[in-house]
Amino acid sequence: MSVQTHVQSVSSPVVDLKPTLAKNGFSGLWRLVRGYRLMYVGAILALALMALFNTAKFLLVGHLTDNVLTQSVDDLPLSLLAIALGFIGLALFQGFFAFLSGRLAAQVAESMGVRLRDFLFDHIQRLPYTYHDSAKTGDLIQRATSDVESIQRFFSEQATGVGRILLLFFVNLLAVMTLHWQLGLLSVIVIPVVVATSIFFFRRASTAFDLMQDEESKLTTTLQESLTGVRVVKAFARQDFEETKFEHDNLNRFKRGRRLLLMHTFFWPLTDIMTATQMLFGFFVGALLAISGEISIGTYMAYAGLVIYIIFPIRELGRLIVQMATGMVSYKRISEVIKADREDLGFDVPPPVKTLRGEFTFKEVTFAYRTGDAVLRDIDFEIKPGQTVALLGSTGSGKTSLVNLLPRFYEYTQGSIKLDGIELNQYPRWFLRQHIGIVEQQPFLFSRSIRDNIAFGSGRTVTDAEIEAAAKAAALHDTIVSFPNGYGTLVGEKGVTLSGGQKQRMALARTLLKNPRILILDDATSAVDTETESQIREALLGLMEGRTTFLIAHRIQSVMIADLILVMDKGRIIERGTHDHLMTQGGVYRQIYEMQAQIELELERELNRVGL
Ligand SMILES: Nc1ncnc2c1ncn2[C@@H]1O[C@H](COP(=O)(O)OP(=O)(O)OP(=O)(O)O)[C@@H](O)[C@H]1O
Ligand SMILES: [Mg+2]
Repeated sequence: MSVQTHVQSVSSPVVDLKPTLAKNGFSGLWRLVRGYRLMYVGAILALALMALFNTAKFLLVGHLTDNVLTQSVDDLPLSLLAIALGFIGLALFQGFFAFLSGRLAAQVAESMGVRLRDFLFDHIQRLPYTYHDSAKTGDLIQRATSDVESIQRFFSEQATGVGRILLLFFVNLLAVMTLHWQLGLLSVIVIPVVVATSIFFFRRASTAFDLMQDEESKLTTTLQESLTGVRVVKAFARQDFEETKFEHDNLNRFKRGRRLLLMHTFFWPLTDIMTATQMLFGFFVGALLAISGEISIGTYMAYAGLVIYIIFPIRELGRLIVQMATGMVSYKRISEVIKADREDLGFDVPPPVKTLRGEFTFKEVTFAYRTGDAVLRDIDFEIKPGQTVALLGSTGSGKTSLVNLLPRFYEYTQGSIKLDGIELNQYPRWFLRQHIGIVEQQPFLFSRSIRDNIAFGSGRTVTDAEIEAAAKAAALHDTIVSFPNGYGTLVGEKGVTLSGGQKQRMALARTLLKNPRILILDDATSAVDTETESQIREALLGLMEGRTTFLIAHRIQSVMIADLILVMDKGRIIERGTHDHLMTQGGVYRQIYEMQAQIELELERELNRVGL
């Protein structure tokens, strides 16, 4: 069996949505449905036809009253039958176009949603380390789910709603105008007031929804963090604290939600009163006209039916304008993510060399994260191809920061790092990442099978034999075969829970399978016992051969084999040399060595004493 680590794309490639961004929310949203616009126009046209058939029904009522019922027609039953059939026909058409329009609009909204989610997922994965350092996972989740849904609703409900309503309004207004134009005009005098009120509420609802989404993001973050960190919460018995925090966030979310809802509940009756008054006014004037004989009874009946379809859209328009605020706010929130620049992997840049030898020269390298002081200062050292450099130093001394510069996760701010004689930033990032293998300090495993987890980074089809070889090298094979499903065992929720040391060894196997030219082991054996460590160390010795290796470890035993040992403190190299050289120096290294030897001696004595 072999594991495929490439996935064939299931649909069309991800469309780049960055060029579609626009300052104005409406034009941005319109650009977002590029490719589906025709369908969308179809949805609106279907609505127009629906509105037309609806209006025709009322004109037919007028005709029935004026020309059939009140006049002496030759063949009344036949005329009535024709009108009845006409009525049914119109209703059927109206229903059909209502269905068609809903179907088309839903199709557009869903397709647009799929495209947007695909893009966001892809985009978020490709944002640089620096972005993810400051972004909150919960907030990103919120934007990629709730905000996308709100934009979908904008298209499936609100935007077509506005189209339908405007069409209904104009078609019916035109129909009423043909009946009696003065009466028609009198029926719409309330519009400016309703529109002004809606715009006023639109602004306030935008702010309210924005605040609510922010609050919901916080809630998602709290939820996500306490789920991810559930073990920490339990270990420190902090459930009550977390619960209070969640309740607090939840209450805030509730308050914001209530504010938004209150705004709607205040707005709706207000427009209802305005439009109802307008309608009564129209009925009243119409009735006066009918009594005075200015219009016929049939016309009045048609008017009474039609005017509802003028007033109803005005009322709905107000609501929709206010609801649209949510779509606009979500658009703004999503465009903030889309706007962020991706990490340039440099696929179009040819690497300056074909094969790497793996020689590094650091010259006065200084590095600071965006926020704060330099965490690496004046780093100077040189390492030949295939050699091993070990980094030793207290926590926070900058070891991880140093190795993170190599695959260009971060860019150094001063000095120079040369790889095979060429400045590191001349190499495209994809090339470096292909040739540098990292076993991270806190490895992450996916909820997939052990086999898939090990094959994860290889970027090619690998055989079971290769996976096993890697697992053996990481001293993990025996553990894996002891699981009921062997290499097919799932990791995580539905499968086995691995210990810290097992996780580290999985990560090690994963990196070894990648077979990189340059190897970075960031505290890769910190979570395993001394015996396993020495097993791994032996396996590694063979594997490190011929590869340039950066080895971060806390145990002297692990670092003593290195060709160069750098002792770091507060971002500086304070001692350097081989083990033998450093032992003659009587500095920090020697102190650490003696301390660790002492601890081990005592441990051994103690174990002997209890008979282990
Ligand atoms: N993403 C980051 N953004 C800002 N500062 C950071 C970031 N990562 C680390 N630092 C800071 O940089 C300094 C060096 O951290 P680094 O992780 O390199 O230490 P380390 O030597 O690997 O420590 P440890 O042995 O605990 O892993 C620390 O002061 C830390 O607070
Ligand atoms: Mg570290």
